[in-house]
Amino acid sequence: MKLMSTRRFLQIAGLTAATFVLAACGKKEEAPAPAAVASAPAPARVYVVGTDAAYAPFESQNEKGEIVGFDIEVVQAVAAKAGIEVKFVNTPWEGIFNALGQGDRDMVVSAVTITEERKGTMDFSDPYFDAQQLIAVKETSKVAKFADLKRLKVGVQTGTTGDEAVSKLLGKTSTNIKRFESTPLALKELEAGGVDAVVADNGVIIHYVANNPGGKFKTVADKDFVPEQYGIALKKGNTELLAKINKGLAEIKADGSYDAIFSKYFGAPPAKVEANAPATAASK
Ligand code: ARG
Repeated sequence: MKLMSTRRFLQIAGLTAATFVLAACGKKEEAPAPAAVASAPAPARVYVVGTDAAYAPFESQNEKGEIVGFDIEVVQAVAAKAGIEVKFVNTPWEGIFNALGQGDRDMVVSAVTITEERKGTMDFSDPYFDAQQLIAVKETSKVAKFADLKRLKVGVQTGTTGDEAVSKLLGKTSTNIKRFESTPLALKELEAGGVDAVVADNGVIIHYVANNPGGKFKTVADKDFVPEQYGIALKKGNTELLAKINKGLAEIKADGSYDAIFSKYFGAPPAKVEANAPATAASK
């Protein structure tokens, strides 16, 4: 009996020593006690939404660095209906679809045009916005239609549908195509005289021209530009999330919340569309 108790003592001592070693190794290993993890409520999944936030009024950063815009409000409203949590992460346009494919982003909302080519590598929600290419030139420009750009220097955002349209007209490898990492950069170059025209989504051009009167721009429309529609992009095969999003989209279209967001951004005269203008800030 005395032997037994010594053995027991040694066992207990051994155990205690082992506990000490574990504790010394780092508190992190101790923290998630398996029982506690199992009984805790599962934390809500936060879906990461990638957006190239240099594309007002669809997505941009306000003075506080918050990502705001039409797309953002649409996705927030959709997420509320779908009962999911979302978080927006500013993501450069070049590489935004790779981030989606690799799973670094669960969705991309970035005024993304639904195209047959893109459908080959990603899934799209139902369309949520109609768009078309539009040309921006200086007020003094003689450009009257898209074909007039044929021998001019044209700025586009790399890899956009604007880039595609201009590549078709001028030839993909034409040195007259100046590609920029953002649409505002292309428009700044137009103002500086480095390019003769910029081709980009109508909503963004109209917004920029209206808010930069000093640039002395005008816009030129052309019926030959094919109609485009924006969709929320998801990784191919993510059907469960896609169904939730489409259901949410249908609900916000049906109950008027989509229309309310739309008129907030596009129903008012262009001068009031500016996301950073005092008028909009006051409406917060
Ligand atoms: N709609 C165009 C496209 O899909 C341009 C979108 C660019 N969006 C952005 N946030 N930079 O190609």
